[in-house]
Amino acid sequence: MRKLLIVANLKSYKNENEAKNWLETFKKINELSLNPAQKEVIVCPSFTQLFSFSSYFSSNNINANLGAQNVSPFDEGAFTGEVNAKQIKDFATYVLIGHSERRKNFGETEDMLAKKVQLSLDCGLNPIFLVQGKDNIIPQGVKIVAYEPVSAIGTGNPDTPESADMVAGVIKMNRSELMVLYGGSVKSVNVKGFTERSNIDGVLVGGASLDAQEFIKIIENA
Ligand code: PGA
Repeated sequence: MRKLLIVANLKSYKNENEAKNWLETFKKINELSLNPAQKEVIVCPSFTQLFSFSSYFSSNNINANLGAQNVSPFDEGAFTGEVNAKQIKDFATYVLIGHSERRKNFGETEDMLAKKVQLSLDCGLNPIFLVQGKDNIIPQGVKIVAYEPVSAIGTGNPDTPESADMVAGVIKMNRSELMVLYGGSVKSVNVKGFTERSNIDGVLVGGASLDAQEFIKIIENA
């Protein structure tokens, strides 16, 4: 059976108290008795919550892994305000790189993204590299790509499963080792349409993952 990755991107939402409530609901994931070799769940909270999520996951044996939403394009050093790959690796196994919100609002260039990928790989952090279409450059060493058309993000207008599957197929051409996820207005009611497609290896969920109960339903329905 093909393995699916189900990723929650909590973006810049949830203060400490809201995050605690989210975790209390999310711990029901353990009742699903998921086999991580078939369905692996990854939660990406903001940097300030990585430590508390990591502690909570360990003390409650939560059947999910953690990811960061961003990483510095520099190694450790005098880069005020940045969080580097080695610092993230203490708490997480994955990192999102190249989200369209970062490309647009923070001027992230292909060159910068390639540096982020390299530094992450160097310390054993797995990049989930986001592309907005089939023509984006995918840096060497990336094994997981997430296709997120900008028009589908946060709009309630997802791409069609047919179109997303076609784009995922093109991305995989000559790189069959890649896993390709779909992201953009994924919900519990539409997730299966994407995950049942042969080229789509999972989903990246933004808005709908802010409600832990809905995210659990997405995991169940995927
Ligand atoms: P959305 O966001 O699920 O709210 O559309 C997806 C994302 O930006 O990763």
